[in-house]
Amino acid sequence: MLFQAWTPYDVVLDQNYMFHRELHVRAARILQGRFATGTFDLLDLGCGSARHLAGILRDHPPATYRGYDLSAQALELARVNLASLADRVRLVNADLALGPASGPADVVFSAFAIHHLNVSAKVALFRSIRSCLRPGGIFLLIDVVRDEGEERARFLDRFEDEIRSQWWALAERDVVEILDHIRTCDFPETDSGIRDLARDAGLGGCRETERHGCHQLWCFDRD
Ligand SMILES: C[S@@+](CC[C@H](N)C(=O)[O-])C[C@H]1O[C@@H](n2cnc3c(N)ncnc32)[C@H](O)[C@@H]1O
Repeated sequence: MLFQAWTPYDVVLDQNYMFHRELHVRAARILQGRFATGTFDLLDLGCGSARHLAGILRDHPPATYRGYDLSAQALELARVNLASLADRVRLVNADLALGPASGPADVVFSAFAIHHLNVSAKVALFRSIRSCLRPGGIFLLIDVVRDEGEERARFLDRFEDEIRSQWWALAERDVVEILDHIRTCDFPETDSGIRDLARDAGLGGCRETERHGCHQLWCFDRD
């Protein structure tokens, strides 16, 4: 499994192939703007190693951080990366498709994880996100996105072309592993599909968005 072997994904992070840097800079600005003068409880869904978010939270520490992930190995890395938050951190080995998020929280954050769920699991998860957010809370989502009207098969071919032509720092065996993972596990929505999921879950409008290729950030208000 890609996220048990972790190293290829660390190369992706090092090389910024999925625009983690730009999208997390925007996420940091949003957190600063919204919570500069107050504390907040944060849920991180599919936290992985939390490498980029941990950098943000060193400057803007939440009152509590709860990270959920399927991979026990990723959670061990998250514990190291989040060490500056000490006992504010709780890490949960859980399947988001089976056990939706539980609150309360002021910020629900998720980066590059929700596209692994099928549509019905996404519907349930968005509803649980809405129900665990406190008034004034936000859902900060970063994920892979398809173009409007683009079928999954076409998206996968396009993403494979991009990876093969641009992700040079990866060994061929890692490219093969990543492509196998994407074809098996990735079910990205379109921008309008994400907005529909949010609206149908009762979340408010999308306050801010930023897109780089097929990588996008959305910030939804709770109300
Ligand atoms: C591409 S990584 C993203 C990690 C981190 N959020 C980041 O942006 O670097 C996707 C993460 O989602 C986790 N994941 C995938 N499906 C999941 C599920 N059904 N429940 C919980 N975690 C899941 C994987 O284990 C992995 O750590």
